[in-house]
Amino acid sequence: MDIRDLIEKAIAAMDFAYTPYSNFKVGAALLTKSGKIFTGCNIENAAYSPTVCAERTAIFKAVSEGETEFEAIAVVGGPNGELKETGDFTGPCGVCRQVLMEFGSDIKIISANSVDEYFINTVADLTPKAFGPANLAE
Ligand code: THU
Repeated sequence: MDIRDLIEKAIAAMDFAYTPYSNFKVGAALLTKSGKIFTGCNIENAAYSPTVCAERTAIFKAVSEGETEFEAIAVVGGPNGELKETGDFTGPCGVCRQVLMEFGSDIKIISANSVDEYFINTVADLTPKAFGPANLAE
């Protein structure tokens, strides 16, 4: 996995964030197990609640094109698209963690401030005792 490339693509995707209300811009780049990358940005809405996060944009793009097996997702974000200097990383929010959980608790979440400054957690790390597909098994 080329982590720097994934982070670069997430940073580039952040440019497309549609954020007239919060001006908080987020970019995501999702790597499939087959080696494809799907990017996403957050897309806000005047009615607020229809707003979709960058992570889910990327996931839904991938699933809608037949990809459901994921290796990792890089996430970057900040006010006005400015990445934080250090220590403080963006997302994913609880809803996006739940959506990731649907596709695998071992997906790596790369939270980045730059191509050099990032940390990696799995979905399971960030979503302890989550509800998932296994709970629906009879
Ligand atoms: N946002 C994301 O895109 N991903 C996250 O993980 C956290 C929040 C977006 C939603 C909204 O457009 C803005 O950031 C402020 O909450």
